[in-house]
Formats: sequence, structure tokens, C-alpha cells
Amino acid sequence: MSDHLLMKQRADECAAAIRRHGEVRVVSHIDADGLTAAAIMCHALDRLGIEHSVRFVKQLDKEILDEVADANIPTVFTDLGSGMLSDMPRGMDVVIADHHQIDQDGAGNITHHLNPHLFGIDGSTELSGAGCAYLLAQSLSCPGIQSGDLADLAIVGAVGDLQARKFGKLVGCNREILKQGRDRGVLNYKKDISFFGKQTREVFRLLLYSSDPYLPGLTGNEAASIEFLRKVGIDAGGERWRRWIDLTKEEQQKVVSSLVQHCISRRMSSYHLHRLVTEGYTLCREKEGTEMRDASEYSTLLNATARYGFADVGLAVCLGDREGKLAEAHDLLKDHRKNLVEGLKLVRERGITKLAYIQYFDAGSSIRDTIVGIVAGMSLSNSKNRDTPILAFAESDAGLKVSTRGTQSLIRKGLNLADAIGACAARVGGTGGGHNIAAGATIPRGSKDEFLELMDAMVGEQITTGK
Ligand code: C5P
Ligand code: C5P
Ligand code: ZN
Repeated sequence: MSDHLLMKQRADECAAAIRRHGEVRVVSHIDADGLTAAAIMCHALDRLGIEHSVRFVKQLDKEILDEVADANIPTVFTDLGSGMLSDMPRGMDVVIADHHQIDQDGAGNITHHLNPHLFGIDGSTELSGAGCAYLLAQSLSCPGIQSGDLADLAIVGAVGDLQARKFGKLVGCNREILKQGRDRGVLNYKKDISFFGKQTREVFRLLLYSSDPYLPGLTGNEAASIEFLRKVGIDAGGERWRRWIDLTKEEQQKVVSSLVQHCISRRMSSYHLHRLVTEGYTLCREKEGTEMRDASEYSTLLNATARYGFADVGLAVCLGDREGKLAEAHDLLKDHRKNLVEGLKLVRERGITKLAYIQYFDAGSSIRDTIVGIVAGMSLSNSKNRDTPILAFAESDAGLKVSTRGTQSLIRKGLNLADAIGACAARVGGTGGGHNIAAGATIPRGSKDEFLELMDAMVGEQITTGK
């Protein structure tokens, strides 16, 4: 049987385990992928008439798993769980729909475990947590939910986890979900300028705030961004600035080709040049000019809620609230943007320390533990020094939070951040996991230096021996 069929069979088994119950709990992760995964489950459980409550957590630890065990209500974990198989509660129904690397020591503990890695499918690029929840929802075959109905949420989750980055488009199972959504009329996709904000921002702000890639001479320079567009024949003309979606196709093409020329003349690397145009994803049921219309803007809006302790707001938006909760989400988004800009500034000012095989910064309490990973990822993608992965430290209530981010070229050399951080965190008495390209941990305060030494050695071993 093919890997895909085996995975479908597993999804069917997990669905059967859920259908046995009149009430379940959903435990999910506090980011865009976790929110969309939970929303997909809520839609499906609603239609089946299964009572449910949802809890969002930063990460699973033994304390939370003890609480789950005490409550003794059948539980569906989405976008987390696979890294904690050894500690899963026994003697109660647990279903895991996750795409993180698997805790192999506990692999025998859980029967109802849906994870692409089990079937030779890469959980960091081919299927997200929301994608797993989507497969599970399909197997639940809910009345009223047709194939492709929830694909838009699944794609927002995948885009939120940056799963389209490797190839500039979604691939593998994600692409199949995308096509189901397109066939159902809920999703569309096309190659487009990669900048963030195509639906909602005035055009010059796309250049002004572009960080991936960083536009030499334009990013951070409002006058230069406006002048660049004026030369291409686009300006406000005394009126309001238009948004990217308001430009004609010809105007959009002119901007893209002039930008490519500009970046070539400024000697932008081919890696960054390639990132100027990537595939973009539109949610057809959403109103034009809103964040929800664009998968990338939607996912940022969701991150702005759950990562700040307001997962209920993001979940309500995913479940269709376009009134009060959306207004709250907009306020949170403003703060999130400000925090990211300030976070990046802090890293620039404090600087990044280089060791032999890793580089790191310590944000102390100046950047929230829940967004320090995003800041680390943005710092790395802007950086000229992309030869080593980046680690970031931040204070959290549970200890010292570590976030790490790598690059595809380091992965090809053998880097696996989840393996490294999992092993090194365990050595200093912490826990961690994630994906090969992005992983995190919480370690005891005071173990930072030892942890850095261990990580430097282990990453060095991975990329010099290729394993
Ligand atoms: O917990 P979860 O799986 O949802 O998070 C995945 C994380 O990996 C996201 O924070 C995402 O930004 C990061 N990532 C990345 N680069 C990639 C793929 C994922 O930084 N190419
Ligand atoms: O928190 P951060 O964005 O750095 O997380 C990166 C990835 O590592 C995410 O996929 C997250 O779920 C995972 N992670 C983990 N265990 C932790 C912290 C993060 O599996 N203790
Ligand atoms: Zn995820």
C-alpha cells in the first residue's frame, strides 16, 4: 500500500476512535497552525454533534499532560503531541494529529497517532498540523462537510508554519489539499510578488516593510520606496495610495520587473532574488481587501492573537466571526507588528554572538518567549551570515526559552534542529523538539552556557558528518 493510503487508513482509525465518544477535548498549539487545526476539528465535531472544548498551550509538558490525565476526557491533540509520546496519559482515549518530529522512545505508547513522519512524508514541508486535522476531519466524514470545504483553513496553517518556503510554493500533501480547495472553489493560487500585505497595505508599504527579502535601498526608507514606485509610474496622485490588489496586472508586472532589475544592480544574492516572486494563496470566500483573503496575512493575524494569550479571539475568527472578535484581532495585530519591529531592532543593537557552528542572541525579557522564534527566523533570513543556525533565548515563566531556526542548505548538510535541541535540552534537564529547520525548548535558568556548548558540538557533528 502507498504511504498516502496508509496514512488515510490511520486517519480513518483515529476518526473511528473519536466517533465513539459524545464528548471530547481538543488540545492545540498557540500559533496559526494550531489555531486552524483546532478550528478544523471544531467544525467537524460540531457537524457530528460531538460536544467539545478547546484548550491552547505553548507546548506540552508533563504538568499539562497530568491535567489531561486527571480530567480523563477523551482528548484530541492537534499540532502537538508527537514529541511527548512517552508521557502521554495511559488508560484513556488519546488521538494525536501532529506533524512534529516523533519521540521514538514512546512510539509504542499510542495507537491513534496520525503524523506524516510515520509514513515517510516530511512534516516540515509537506503537511502541517492543520493539514493533519483536515485529513482527520475528512475521515470523520461529517454531514455537510464536502471534500475541500475546510481546505482554506488547512492552507492558512501550512503557510503560517512557512511550509511553502522551501520551494516557493506548497508541495506534497499540502498541494493535494490546495487542489481540493481549488476544485471546491474555496482557494486559488498564483505566482505573485512575495511581499506581505498585498490585500491590506498601501503599495509603498510593501517595499518599505519588506524583510524577506530585504530590499537594498528601499526597505526601511519611505521616501526611496515612494520614489521607486513613482519612477515606475505608480503614485498616490494626491489621493489615497492603492493596495497591491488595486493595481492593474500591467502595473504589477512593471513593479516586479523593475524590482528585479533594482535588486540585481544592488548585487542581491540569487537566493534572495528567487524569493521576490513566490506562489500566493487566496481564500475565495473571504472579502477582498481583508487579511483573511490572503493565507499569509491571515496566518499573521492569527499569530497576533494566540501567541499573546488570546487564542479564543483567533479561534472565533477561524470559526467565522467577522465582527467583534475580528476587531479585537486587528488591535492585537497592531501590537504584534510593533513587537516584531522592536524585536528585530533589539537584535541589531545587541548583536549576534558567533560560535563555531551556531550563532545566538539573548533577548532576556525584552522579547516574548512566544514570538522570539519568529524574530530569530526573520533575523536569520535577513542576515548575510546564513552558514550557521541561529539560537535565541528569552525568559519564560517555565524557565529559559530557546528557539532555533536553520536554512534549507544547512538541512542538506545534515542539520536537524529538533534532534539537536531535544538531546541537548534533555542533557541539561529541559525538554525540546520541533522540526529539522525550526525547533524550540525550555531549559533550566543557569544552564545556558552548558547548553550552548552542547548545541555547538552537536550541530557541528551533524553538519560535518552529514547526520
Ligand atoms: O509548532 P509549529 O510546527 O507550528 O511551528 C513551526 C515553526 O517552524 C514556525 O514557527 C515556522 O515559522 C518555522 N519554520 C521556519 N522555516 C521553515 C519552516 C518552518 O522558520 N522553512
Ligand atoms: O517556539 P518556537 O517558534 O521556536 O518553536 C519552533 C518549533 O519547535 C515549533 O514547531 C514548536 O512546536 C517546537 N517546540 C517544541 N518543544 C518546545 C518548544 C518548541 O516542540 N519545548
Ligand atoms: Zn505546526
